[in-house]
Amino acid sequence: MRLDRFLSNLPRFSRKDVRFALVAKRIKVDGQTVSDPLHEVREFTRVECDDDVLQAGKPARYFMLHKPPGCVSATLDPQHPTVLDLLDEPDKEDLHIAGRLDFNTTGLMLITNDGVWSRRLTQPQTKLAKIYYVETEQAITDDYVQKFAEGFYFAFEDLTTQPAELTVLGPHCARLSIVEGRYHQVKRMFGHFNNKVLRLHRERMGPLQLDADLAPGQYRALSTEEILAV
Ligand code: URA
Repeated sequence: MRLDRFLSNLPRFSRKDVRFALVAKRIKVDGQTVSDPLHEVREFTRVECDDDVLQAGKPARYFMLHKPPGCVSATLDPQHPTVLDLLDEPDKEDLHIAGRLDFNTTGLMLITNDGVWSRRLTQPQTKLAKIYYVETEQAITDDYVQKFAEGFYFAFEDLTTQPAELTVLGPHCARLSIVEGRYHQVKRMFGHFNNKVLRLHRERMGPLQLDADLAPGQYRALSTEEILAV
């Protein structure tokens, strides 16, 4: 929300008061004096007027989790354990998942309370690469590479998938880089060849790589550099 709108929503300020307070440099945002009425205020932003705290600002939280198989990428599920059950953190209801994985898919899962950040990671327009290791039932032949690069028509969404990069690692395994996250996307891509995906593991999302020493079910907070890299 714009700073002027945030201030004028408070009972203590009229629109005129807001203009005066900004011009008189009485408003501080995250510790810095701000007079621009268009300055962005989020739930994480601290806003002060003189020495009064108008909004304390919630801490923004970001975690990397190694999703094990057999758990649901959802915040609540009546039957199965969810990835949020694996987190020993307060206020879990504020957290959400940036880019879901299927029940038996393993690997990198990012969890945050910052919706702007998670949208940047997952929106197809951002074109951030998501890297998967894949094992399949049938052999992966060389003609797959060209088809993944050309894209697959998904009738349900009426779209053709963005070019994807497939690197064949062995007769039944490959590494795949995709920039979208359509429903069951990887399984549907291999499904085009009637080839069932037996193992799917997400190794990376954009600049964020799953730690090699993070065991399935474990998680850690992201560093400031990792948060800012997205
Ligand atoms: N594509 C899939 O088919 N499943 C996943 O879990 C992730 C990507």
